[in-house]
Amino acid sequence: MVAAVLPRPEEAKLAVIGLGYVGLPLAVGFGRQLETLGFDINTRRIEELSAHRDHTLEVSADELKAVPNLRFSADPAELAACNVFIVTVPTPIDDAKRPDLRPLESASRTVGRAIRPGGVVIFESTVYPGATEEVCVPIIERESGLRFNVDFHAGYSPERINPGDKQHRLESIMKVTSGSTPEAADFVDALYRLVIKAGTHKASSIRVAEAAKVIENTQRDLNIALINELALIFNRLGIDTSEVLAAAGTKWNFLPFRPGLVGGHCIGVDPYYLTHKAQQIGYHPEVILSGRRINDGMGSHVAQRVIKLMIQRRMHAAGARVLILGLAFKENCPDLRNTRVVDVVAEFRDFHAEVEVHDPWVDAAEARHEYGLELTTELKPGSYDAIVLAVAHEQFVAMGGERIRALGKPGCVLFDVKQVLPRDAVDDRL
Ligand SMILES: NC(=O)c1ccc[n+]([C@@H]2O[C@H](COP(=O)([O-])OP(=O)(O)OC[C@H]3O[C@@H](n4cnc5c(N)ncnc54)[C@H](O)[C@@H]3O)[C@@H](O)[C@H]2O)c1
Repeated sequence: MVAAVLPRPEEAKLAVIGLGYVGLPLAVGFGRQLETLGFDINTRRIEELSAHRDHTLEVSADELKAVPNLRFSADPAELAACNVFIVTVPTPIDDAKRPDLRPLESASRTVGRAIRPGGVVIFESTVYPGATEEVCVPIIERESGLRFNVDFHAGYSPERINPGDKQHRLESIMKVTSGSTPEAADFVDALYRLVIKAGTHKASSIRVAEAAKVIENTQRDLNIALINELALIFNRLGIDTSEVLAAAGTKWNFLPFRPGLVGGHCIGVDPYYLTHKAQQIGYHPEVILSGRRINDGMGSHVAQRVIKLMIQRRMHAAGARVLILGLAFKENCPDLRNTRVVDVVAEFRDFHAEVEVHDPWVDAAEARHEYGLELTTELKPGSYDAIVLAVAHEQFVAMGGERIRALGKPGCVLFDVKQVLPRDAVDDRL
């Protein structure tokens, strides 16, 4: 059987499917080199991008205006003119922490209806090893009537961008590439080399590339889990964790991880993709899942430590006014997905405290829609019984301990989750 000829990378007519934190910078990068169509099912997102606005703040209006070959559309009919499809849709987990592959399956159906002989589909969404070839490819075969590795090819190239990070950009991060045949792997690698200045690493198979991505985030999750467990132990011993880490960090091979809330779309989610696949084949992961449990428990741990300090000062938790500074899952970005600050809020509310959340980066309507939280915009000095610095946004760091404490009543408890304020400016820190 003769396989269809792959396009030449420089002549690819590219579609990027799913224009979020990952897809938009990618579409912009390729749009500087190739004819590129940015496709998303969210018509509001297409309207905002067509007006050169990006609410994720990853790409500026000037950058968007300056891309010569990029168009946006929510009309799947336009995909028929493309021969290379890069899929960057979300891969979340459900309430039972199982992979939710519905967006990926739906995007595969969209590609299946558009792809023609000679076409290539490349997945960037984070998945478990095997998902591309076991889940996505059969859908494309069914929808298109084309034969895999004969009429069309596939690739997988995981994304490593870091939202809010203005230093590590798409072009400057080395990218792993892979393909369903050696020729497809060469094509995928050459395609990405058109835009990735830092170079590429061609993995030996799609499954290797899928596994590489999911372990990058699993390793980070576990490293943080260890430090979080140490923080739980040192708290019981009455030792300051930051001081221990500063001392241990003077050894050349001690890794510089910090304790904290592990939220966001990747680190707290991706390990469940790997553990799901492991369980499917009869292996029950212990280390990975115990790390997840520790990290998922840190929000309530923070609230309980603050409440303990309040009780020691003869304050009642019930009815106390508590201010949480920061809701985004990380500093200096508006991303609310899977933020674990909500666990801190929930634990305080369990004690019937009156919690207010302030975050100058976050869209108030999104906070209401996603978590039912009304953000506090005006902060009145002298109002709070306890203040938790939960996210190290530059505005909070610039305020410093004294101005943050001034928001509280005399004797208020100030807790620093992020260890960004001087030790003596706060009552306790993680
Ligand atoms: N955000 C990150 O830092 C990051 C980093 C590396 C990898 N990833 C992975 O990349 C993938 C995408 O993440 P993201 O952060 O860009 O997600 P996102 O939620 O920011 O964006 C996804 C976009 O896809 C669109 N979409 C959903 N279903 C669609 C469909 N069927 N067809 C077309 N468009 C569809 C949504 O409307 C949205 O605009 C995920 O698998 C994620 O794990 C994310």
